Amino acid sequence: MPKHISRLVLLLVVLGVLGYAGKQLLTVKSFYQFGHYRGDSVAEIASDRPKFHTPKSCEQCHAAIYDVWSKGVHNNPGIGKIVKCEVCHGAAGSRVMKPGAYHSSTGTDHPDNLKLDIPSDTVKLCTQCHEQMPGRPAEQKQIVVAAHAGEQQCKACHNVHSPRTFVGALASTSRPGNAAAGKAIAGDCAACHGKAGISEDPAIPNLAGQNEIYLADAIKGYKKGLRKNELMSGMAKDLSDAAAENLAAYFSGLQCKSAQNGEAKEAARGQALAAQCFSCHGANGINSQAMWPSLAGQSKDYLQSAIKSYRAERKNSMMSKVAKDLNDADAAALAAYFANAACR
Ligand code: HEC
Ligand code: HEC
Ligand code: HEC
Ligand code: HEC
Ligand code: HEC
Ligand code: HEC
Repeated sequence: MPKHISRLVLLLVVLGVLGYAGKQLLTVKSFYQFGHYRGDSVAEIASDRPKFHTPKSCEQCHAAIYDVWSKGVHNNPGIGKIVKCEVCHGAAGSRVMKPGAYHSSTGTDHPDNLKLDIPSDTVKLCTQCHEQMPGRPAEQKQIVVAAHAGEQQCKACHNVHSPRTFVGALASTSRPGNAAAGKAIAGDCAACHGKAGISEDPAIPNLAGQNEIYLADAIKGYKKGLRKNELMSGMAKDLSDAAAENLAAYFSGLQCKSAQNGEAKEAARGQALAAQCFSCHGANGINSQAMWPSLAGQSKDYLQSAIKSYRAERKNSMMSKVAKDLNDADAAALAAYFANAACR
């Protein structure tokens, strides 16, 4: 055998022996016990603390937010639907790590050195579950973002920790009142608002069937000067908050009647513009949101002057912006459309 071939064979044998010795000496015994894994690591992985803690774990330090969240629509254990804190804020837990080891995706526990995410873009966050798309189960409420929110952040209207509660200027201090007590003092209103809350004067709004919390807030608004009107401000001045709530309960329970005083051609033009109002005033102007008004069936003259008033004496952050962006012709067309709409 030529010399260089026997040297090559010897070299291969030596490498083989070294490789085998290395495998025996350097790898852990449990290697290959469970396929290509270290058997010992199974117990190690099992002893990891869970990365996700529970909403309950947040309660001790974030009691107020926990309270709001736990009573809100995102905590619905009855039907197995819970949007947990860590779904939006990221995991608050981490692994128990050997000293010196550092796993960048887990870090340490919150609040010790682990900052949680505060989602700043709620459109991105909330649409993950609520944007309308085919195939998404209908029980999970869906919205068409452009029509529902426009350019606005979801948190501009929804309380992020209890999204069926509305925020800021929209939040109301009024409580449902007592309709019988309201009826007893409603006689004072009939001269202007008509018998049973249907006004005969197109400049004065119908109260019958209007949303209760909205009515109560409106009366208090005249009382506090948030709304100003020669006739109404004087009326509201002497009413207590409880009386306002009772009157609101009475009028909201009465049968509405559509004014139908819009001109047909103008109303048709208004219909084409009205979609932008539906997110807040309900489809076709019938609003299921108790603190915001329905528009359907209110008299054209009143609607037109009310829109105008949000550019001046009436203060409401949402409506002021809407009213500022409408020109007079569009406001008139919208008023005609809503005046002709069926109120129920
Ligand atoms: C649906 C998503 C969502 C869920 C679920 C949620 N949060 Fe939040 N949270 C937010 C958003 C969005 C903000 C930022 C709000 C803002 O910018 O005004 C926030 C803000 C916070 C903040 C910081 C701001 C502050 O007011 O101090 C804390 C703390 C917090 N959340 C704790 C919790 C806890 C505790 C839970 C569970 C009980 C929870 N969150 C559940 C979305 C959520
Ligand atoms: C042991 C008390 C404690 C617990 C438990 C706790 N937090 Fe916090 N959290 C804090 C403190 C303290 C801060 C403020 C830290 C700061 O201002 O730097 C904070 C801040 C936050 C913030 C704001 C962002 C940040 O990291 O500063 C969010 C969001 C938050 N916590 C969510 C949660 C959630 C969700 C849970 C439950 C999984 C939770 N926290 C559990 C004490 C706690
Ligand atoms: C991980 C998915 C998820 C995320 C993220 C989420 N939601 Fe929800 N949301 C749900 C589920 C599931 C329900 C339904 C609970 C039920 O059926 O009672 C719900 C219910 C609601 C409701 C009540 C719907 C109704 O029945 O009237 C509103 C409003 C809402 N979410 C708004 C928001 C907003 C605003 C955000 C962002 C801050 C958000 N959601 C983020 C899953 C999510
Ligand atoms: C201009 C205020 C406003 C903004 C901004 C807004 N919402 Fe709403 N949203 C409402 C009102 C008011 C309702 C209740 C409507 C009703 O009950 O008729 C509602 C209802 C919902 C519902 C329940 C729908 C249903 O069919 O019952 C979901 C889901 C929702 N919003 C998600 C979102 C998400 C996600 C965003 C951000 C992309 C968002 N909203 C932004 C005002 C707003
Ligand atoms: C002297 C006439 C007059 C009397 C009496 C009167 N109102 Fe009014 N009311 C008005 C006028 C005019 C407006 C429209 C004001 C405006 O444009 O802001 C109005 C508006 C309202 C509104 C706001 C409705 C909406 O859709 O925003 C409510 C609520 C209301 N009145 C309740 C009452 C109640 C309750 C009484 C009885 C205690 C009463 N009013 C008595 C003239 C009157
Ligand atoms: C972002 C939400 C939002 C949108 C969009 C919106 N509105 Fe409003 N609107 C409100 C709120 C909230 C009120 C009650 C304000 C108050 O308490 O004075 C209101 C009140 C009104 C009133 C007074 C009703 C009355 O009985 O006095 C009229 C009229 C009105 N809106 C017309 C419109 C029209 C027309 C559009 C569409 C071009 C529109 N709104 C779009 C939130 C909105």
